[in-house]
Amino acid sequence: MGFYSDVILPKLCDFAMRNKQLVPFRERVIGAAEGRVLEIGAGSGLNLPFYRPPAREVLALEPAPRLVTMARGASRGASIPVSLLEASAEAIPLGDHSVDTIVTTWTMCSIPHATTALAEMRRVLRPGGKLLFVEHGRSPDEGVRRWQDRLTPAWRCIAGGCHLNRPIRSMIEDAGFRIDRIETGYMPGPKPMTFMYEGSARPK
Ligand SMILES: C[S@@+](CC[C@H](N)C(=O)[O-])C[C@H]1O[C@@H](n2cnc3c(N)ncnc32)[C@H](O)[C@@H]1O
Repeated sequence: MGFYSDVILPKLCDFAMRNKQLVPFRERVIGAAEGRVLEIGAGSGLNLPFYRPPAREVLALEPAPRLVTMARGASRGASIPVSLLEASAEAIPLGDHSVDTIVTTWTMCSIPHATTALAEMRRVLRPGGKLLFVEHGRSPDEGVRRWQDRLTPAWRCIAGGCHLNRPIRSMIEDAGFRIDRIETGYMPGPKPMTFMYEGSARPK
């Protein structure tokens, strides 16, 4: 498992996340970031080229060492300063209310204790700050949902802990955020993997 998770999985993650269909999502989500930004689960750094003022600096948090190395490479092409934090979202090494924006793109599916991670995001985000997200998750269609529940146990094992069936909207709301905007719908591709939630939220 070590070789798969430490070497193969980071390469697969980078390859899968380079999907061109994801670029318009990245442009919209990253384009709304402001001030001091914390990106959760930055992966290989594919969002980093999209940051521009009014984003002032990016703290790119990522627990997988190989992905941190890849993100460090990607940070050289960024137009604002980027610092890499090798850490988990379940224990964010930052002070209370110390960031203006939090970004998550296709990350909440993979965090083992997502509720703890969202509580940490709520803690470090300043009052009035924004949580910007695009995530795949639980479908509103019963037939698709059944497949998501059936596939998730095996999918988690091969896809780095990814859950297909997380209820993204209620997870965010239950963590103490008010949703300002949310758009949902399927992207092209197999329905259990492609129901997207894109939007923004603020601490209640
Ligand atoms: C599908 S990848 C998405 C990467 C990146 N956000 C993107 O859009 O390309 C999921 C990411 O979640 C990260 N992740 C998994 N568990 C995590 C945790 N506990 N804290 C923070 N990130 C985590 C993985 O290491 C991986 O980089």
